[in-house]
Amino acid sequence: MAKYKIAWLPGDGIGKEVLEATRPVLEAVSLDAELIPGDIGWEFWKKEGNPLPNRTVDLLRRTDCALFGAVTSKPPSDTMSELPENLRNKGVKYIGAVLRMRRLLDLYVCLRPCKAFPGNHANLKENIDIVIFRENTEGLYAGIEWDKVPPELYPLLGMERIPRGAAVSLRTITRKASQRIVRAAFEHAKHEGRKKVTAVHKANVLRATCGLFLDTARRVAAGYNDIKYEEMMVDACALTMVKDPLHFDVIVTTNLFGDILSDLAAGTVGGMGFAPSANIGDDYAVFEPAHGSAPDIEGTGTANPIATILSARMMLEWLGEKEKAAQIGKAVSDVICEGKFRTPDFGGKCTTMEMTAAIVKKLGR
Ligand code: NAI
Ligand code: MG
Repeated sequence: MAKYKIAWLPGDGIGKEVLEATRPVLEAVSLDAELIPGDIGWEFWKKEGNPLPNRTVDLLRRTDCALFGAVTSKPPSDTMSELPENLRNKGVKYIGAVLRMRRLLDLYVCLRPCKAFPGNHANLKENIDIVIFRENTEGLYAGIEWDKVPPELYPLLGMERIPRGAAVSLRTITRKASQRIVRAAFEHAKHEGRKKVTAVHKANVLRATCGLFLDTARRVAAGYNDIKYEEMMVDACALTMVKDPLHFDVIVTTNLFGDILSDLAAGTVGGMGFAPSANIGDDYAVFEPAHGSAPDIEGTGTANPIATILSARMMLEWLGEKEKAAQIGKAVSDVICEGKFRTPDFGGKCTTMEMTAAIVKKLGR
């Protein structure tokens, strides 16, 4: 029997391509794992009215962790029109696969490192090394929404009656969720020898929710005297990330801000092709590139597989396979530094599989 069971979830678009390109890398480091394929994505919404079928949820429950590509999701009107006729009138509701996976397994940490690899001319600056801790279970992504506001909510919204064409999304922030994400950020800083944690917020406007987040962050920070703690508003953070990305070390923030800032951070180190991520709970984790299914380049064979290969590296670290993880990190770094193989997103002409082959060769295979 293999040492690990890993749910293997390609998903849609380039998700399939980058996951397939990661398989030879795991083989090259001789990972003793059974990779068990699972169904996820738009394809299963269209066929079954569920982008995360129950058999896939079962698979997640009986594996050690998952490696996931990406899924497509669409605005509400397109979502319903692509559902088959026989399911459309049965009250089938769309719940995004990624959100559902994070919630079902309580994967409360979304960890997104953005590191400038030496020799990547697409870096905004050399030495960028930012780690973002994004709260992954609540905030504006909790799915508490009304596209037609129920009358019970009118008084809450300070109106006698809601004008036509109003919609509401509720933002909930809890002390529990804030505490565990801030703690995770500080613990990471402590173990990785990092010097500073920046809590990103908008507490001057979102006084209740960001106020609670910030108050919690301050209390947690008080327990870590050796790590500098600072606070920054989300808009100022966006500006600073572009003007002075070296300012940042570890960032901790709420769900939506973390989503946006992590794409911005990816942009400082060459783009989505370099941004791995991990969704981590107390006893399960799903590793995935931060990017989506990229329909604009799907099928061209030119997607950059590095974000997914680095996500696999994070998976190996989480599993305790530190040496194999380090080997992959070095191989990726060497290939980027030599500059012979570059996918089009960072100015080259090589294909997804050529990039993989170059990395596998560095691993001595
Ligand atoms: P995206 O991340 O798929 O693409 C944004 C841009 O980055 C595109 O120009 C794309 O070509 C480029 N890009 C992304 N990954 C790349 C790679 N590995 N190599 C080279 N270029 C790459 O985001 P977009 O276009 O906003 O969304 C497309 C679809 O993906 C949507 O349906 C969206 O809902 C979904 N999505 C899914 C996510 C997930 O599965 N976790 C995350 C983000 C978006
Ligand atoms: Mg995103």
